[in-house]
Amino acid sequence: MPEAKFHIKRYDPARGEKDASRYDDFVVSYDSSLTVLEGLFSIQEQQDGSLAFRYCCRASICGSCAMYINGKYRLACQTNLRHVHADVITVEPMPHLPLVKDLVCDMSDFFAKYEYVKPWLIRNSAAPEREILQSPEERKKLDMPIDCILCGACYSSCPSVWTEDNYLGPAALLKAYRFEVDSRDEASKVRMPSWDNERGDYRCHTITNCVEACPKELNPTEGIQWLKMAAVRRRLFGRSR
Ligand code: SF4
Ligand code: FES
Repeated sequence: MPEAKFHIKRYDPARGEKDASRYDDFVVSYDSSLTVLEGLFSIQEQQDGSLAFRYCCRASICGSCAMYINGKYRLACQTNLRHVHADVITVEPMPHLPLVKDLVCDMSDFFAKYEYVKPWLIRNSAAPEREILQSPEERKKLDMPIDCILCGACYSSCPSVWTEDNYLGPAALLKAYRFEVDSRDEASKVRMPSWDNERGDYRCHTITNCVEACPKELNPTEGIQWLKMAAVRRRLFGRSR
């Protein structure tokens, strides 16, 4: 039976500042294939019940198991050990985020900034009697941003986030873009002040770490550049699309 060695970053604030961080090693036996998330479950169930990590869907949809695995942002449930191509699986929490415990990051700021851009469809017109139709071209504009699972990898990887606490970050701005290009949304003028300001689109310096980090292969930078153009169009021509 093959074995995998997990090298896991631990963090326990209850141990005091000096001893809070360490790395622990665990060996896990498995049959034919094993995801990193399954490996963490095995360790938690059979070797160390105090190991903390986040998960929910186990199907690459909820975004809660984003971690830094062998130096790369990955979803633990989507990462088979065979994809990592290494004898040792190093598992760390997403860097540059405050920690709660072990692999669990504090995502409070991330979600507060997400909420700030009003990430929901807003209509001013009377409620329609049936669904609001979109043309295939209109729907196509949503293909990229709608796949965001809010894992936070882009946010963790962004140097503008590291250096500017207030910056909304790639995921929130990608969501603003998602509604700006949605033909059904009617809140552009209401939503725009939330992202067209000193916390928003202009803080992006097109470093594109977010593109590299995203486990869903999305392009937040592209969305943010669209927002910058939309802000200019709005000022010059009074329309963003
Ligand atoms: S854009 Fe990608 S990396 Fe950022 S939150 Fe969405 S899925 Fe995660
Ligand atoms: S557990 Fe939901 S994305 Fe991995």
